Amino acid sequence: MKYLTLIVFILFSGILAAQDGKALYDKNCKACHKIGGGKLVGPDLAGITKKRSVDWLSKFIMSSANMIAAGDKEAIKVFEEFAKMPMPSHTFAPAELNALLSYLNNPVGGAGAEQGSEVPQLFTPNADLGRDLFTGKTRLVNGGASCISCHSVKDEKVFFGGTLAKDLSTSYNVGIVGTMATSMPAMISAYKTHELALSEKAHLELFLKTVKENQLFTHSRQLQSLVFLGGIVFFFVLVLVSGFFWKQTKKVSVKDEIFKRQKKVLQQ
Ligand code: HEC
Ligand code: HEC
Repeated sequence: MKYLTLIVFILFSGILAAQDGKALYDKNCKACHKIGGGKLVGPDLAGITKKRSVDWLSKFIMSSANMIAAGDKEAIKVFEEFAKMPMPSHTFAPAELNALLSYLNNPVGGAGAEQGSEVPQLFTPNADLGRDLFTGKTRLVNGGASCISCHSVKDEKVFFGGTLAKDLSTSYNVGIVGTMATSMPAMISAYKTHELALSEKAHLELFLKTVKENQLFTHSRQLQSLVFLGGIVFFFVLVLVSGFFWKQTKKVSVKDEIFKRQKKVLQQ
């Protein structure tokens, strides 16, 4: 049963890892935007990743209304240019935003892109980088507190953790790092003015994901070491028991008997 859960988990994460930016774009954006060829309901998105930063774009796509409310000048400018027509909000996980923005950065078949070429990711989520961000070994770009000041995780390379908030060993869910920073009061106050970058969220999420997967593996590892220990104990019991019988049967050695027999022959 445990293995079944594990297999399902791995299959599921494999599907998620193969996130297709074009599919996301076609489903969520195509109705209002074109990439090259002028505006539709919203502006033409050709070259948008050169015009705006990855973090600006990810915030705008998640909620342009929040950005306008926060007084972001660029967001207000496009909003006014488009007759104050609001763009709908979206909820994407960091990996999905990465795929979507990677596609906008290099739309297959678009101007300047090779037909059928693979879309290079804007950045590659990395669990080791996530661990370093978690522990504070690498500082967060916008100066937020490292997660370890409040949280702990069961990971072989993380030794101490905060006890102020929950242990995050099994907390991973798609998009968790993005949503927690905007839904948990303690986290909002920690990161409101020191926002996490999109790449940081993606690295942290991948780290929490591998930690969770390792928790599932740890159970089978514990079982293995238990079997191993049991084997050692069994071996010693076997040695003791056989030693006992050996003592019983070999009080007098075989050599001794032969020696006595020969002595007799010689004496005759
Ligand atoms: C219902 C129509 C609609 C949908 C769906 C939509 N947008 Fe928009 N988008 C707009 C409008 C209108 C604007 C103009 C600015 C505003 O409304 O604030 C805009 C603006 C933008 C901008 C700012 C462009 C600039 O010059 O800074 C980006 C980037 C963007 N959209 C990306 C997306 C992406 C990516 C998706 C899909 C996930 C999407 N939009 C889905 C209507 C839409
Ligand atoms: C100021 C303390 C503080 C810091 C710093 C902090 N958190 Fe939290 N976090 C909390 C609190 C409080 C909760 C609410 C859950 C609880 O009561 O423990 C929470 C909840 C969460 C949850 C949801 C847990 C669940 O299972 O529902 C996640 C995921 C999370 N934090 C990730 C992070 C990450 C990643 C970082 C680093 C970028 C971080 N946190 C930094 C205080 C903090």
